[in-house]
Amino acid sequence: MNEQWMSLQTNVPRWLDECRPYAKEGKAAAYIPALAIAPADALGISILRADGSSITGGDSSMKFTMQSISKVFTLLLALMDNGEEVVFSKVGMEPTGDDFNSILKLELVEPGIPFNPLINAGAIAVTSLIKGSNPADKTERILEFMRLMAGDEQLDYNRIVSKSESATAYRNRSLAYFLQENGVLSPHTNIEEVLSVYFNHCAIEVTCNHLARMGLILAHGGFDPLTERQLVPKRYVRIAKTFMLTCGMYNASGEFAIRVGIPAKSGVAGGILAVVPGQYGIGVVGPALNSRGNSIAGIRLLETMSVQNDWSLF
Ligand code: DON
Repeated sequence: MNEQWMSLQTNVPRWLDECRPYAKEGKAAAYIPALAIAPADALGISILRADGSSITGGDSSMKFTMQSISKVFTLLLALMDNGEEVVFSKVGMEPTGDDFNSILKLELVEPGIPFNPLINAGAIAVTSLIKGSNPADKTERILEFMRLMAGDEQLDYNRIVSKSESATAYRNRSLAYFLQENGVLSPHTNIEEVLSVYFNHCAIEVTCNHLARMGLILAHGGFDPLTERQLVPKRYVRIAKTFMLTCGMYNASGEFAIRVGIPAKSGVAGGILAVVPGQYGIGVVGPALNSRGNSIAGIRLLETMSVQNDWSLF
């Protein structure tokens, strides 16, 4: 057992206690009504390494929905389904500096394709590329891929959260129709069908342990050290991790890169998936969000761990 692992084991409980109070400065997301009931002061973590040993702490077995974290995996599946050329004809490779659900650049910049696959507009475009004969089939294919990555056949989506998001998704509907206007979605695309798949994959329910397992595979270039199988082509994982670093925390990605310096993706249910390349997959949950839609205590925890262990890539 190496020194860093032993120090993580010793220190994670203390860091959880130190970071939990920051939750008071944030709030659980309320624009999706079903998310508002989450315990705002919860904080949990799971760290997994290639030999299968893990460090867990706090509310690591609490269930929550992936929300935007799922976008990393729909990107991977869309790349495997269609190849890079098709995917990057519909979505760009640049950070926006805008909120995750902004419509602004779709009108301001030509051509009107979303800047990247991790903002809502980009993720809706990516979801439209997932192969399958109908929305149920596409949802099932995404679920199957998530189950493989998380190493859990039981993974499923939360119907209540998916319905709750759909009921109030005025902005995502606007984004989708704008994408159709701009030719990113064809005139024949059934917008409600694309959105239903999008809401379903955002509502996939996980714990920190699942995220850590998914992160471990990303940390090893798509190779799952636990089953010794290459689950995703290495090049696609590199693309996904690059987007996580440049766009994964939305318009706080630059600050996160300076303070923490590793690829990560947040979701509005308070989850963060983080990757220490070549070493660990990390899942964090803390439902209280800051104004940018990222877990406030979760970011503190990742910052503390990264600084203490010198994880920054830079
Ligand atoms: O489309 C939405 O608004 C949500 N289903 C996902 C947004 C999200 O998680 C943003 N992340 N911080």
